[in-house]
Amino acid sequence: MKLTELVSRLSCSSHYTIWEYIVKQKKGTSFALYLRSSSMIKRFRDDVSQIQASKQERQMIEEFIKTLPKAELHLHIEGSLEPELMFELSSRNKVDMPFVSVEEVRAAYEFSDLQSFLDIFYAGAGVLLQTQDFFDLTWAYLEKVNRENVRHVEIFFDPQTHTDRGVPFRTVITGIHKALEEAREEFGMTSYLILCFLRHLSEKAAFATLEEALPFRGWIEGVGLDSSEVGFPPEIFERVFTKAEEEGLRKVAHAGEEGPPEYIWQALDSLGVSRIDHGVRCMEDQKLVKRLVKEQIPLTVCPLSNIKLKVFDRMEEHNLKKMLDAGLCVTINSDDPAYFGGYMNENFLATQKGLNLSLEDLAEIAKNGFRASFLPQEDIDSHLQSIDDMLAMQSTSG
Ligand code: HPA
Ligand code: ZN
Repeated sequence: MKLTELVSRLSCSSHYTIWEYIVKQKKGTSFALYLRSSSMIKRFRDDVSQIQASKQERQMIEEFIKTLPKAELHLHIEGSLEPELMFELSSRNKVDMPFVSVEEVRAAYEFSDLQSFLDIFYAGAGVLLQTQDFFDLTWAYLEKVNRENVRHVEIFFDPQTHTDRGVPFRTVITGIHKALEEAREEFGMTSYLILCFLRHLSEKAAFATLEEALPFRGWIEGVGLDSSEVGFPPEIFERVFTKAEEEGLRKVAHAGEEGPPEYIWQALDSLGVSRIDHGVRCMEDQKLVKRLVKEQIPLTVCPLSNIKLKVFDRMEEHNLKKMLDAGLCVTINSDDPAYFGGYMNENFLATQKGLNLSLEDLAEIAKNGFRASFLPQEDIDSHLQSIDDMLAMQSTSG
């Protein structure tokens, strides 16, 4: 550790008063620290070792998270559109943007709730027009998470956000699918695509979207339900989900992010989903928790998203650890990383820090990601084994 860094930390330490040490800076090149007594020197040394130990522990945790094999199950591909690519596509496609710089775009990402985010999110997606745009968008995400050791992804896309602007369904799905195929070849990363219906639009519109999707059935693993939650209960889409099931598609739905536990019951009972996206409000209903635990229905939690959209005020108040301790199958995901300030590793790191998660907690969450995935069981088993191997190595080295 640099002495400058140490001194700045020490000056915040409650052990010291301004009288107890003097720091001299020699023309910005080095620092000297003079302590007035041997007891102060001892205290200083103790503080140095404590700071160094906690820094080493932080580095070890960061390294552990980076190396942990992970699966991402809750990612809206349109939500991975970084402002830089948004600008590039706006000039390539000659689409006007209400912002003049990347900094201005980022500064606008202050949200008060889900709807305030969705308004900006749908506007941002307006720069996506050509197959190449959807490819570039998806490829940028896959390259990024490959570097974070994400080994499997299940990606949401919102066709209605594009078809309602006149972009053909084929254009959207072809670009995304091509990028997923390339990532499979180049990185060995496996993936599935999940088509989400926008719940603020009608059941009829959802049926029409499902019809448009059927010629591409082989590229789609499942259907989901997203967009504005409160006032749009899952049961509205019961018949569409039944039709999707008849087509052999898997089913998931956003529920219990802002909406009440009742929406989670409906997602389970009316839609028959096998996974709940978000679901953090389940903790308000102990009967529901019991059911989710008993059936091990996975919950794809997105911690940074929850903070950005004010579901919880601070990470320290997030209920993820309580959910984990209650025996729920909790996973960590990024939701809309370009808007919420972090991809997978940042979500793991921020949650670990806010809730003081142990390495065992982190490994369990990563394992849940694979258990909750739609991968064949033998692939799941092999990912679980690699996480166990990593934990075993950690305990022999630590
Ligand atoms: N919730 C609902 N709809 C969404 C979200 C979300 O977090 N992100 C993109 N669409
Ligand atoms: Zn989401």
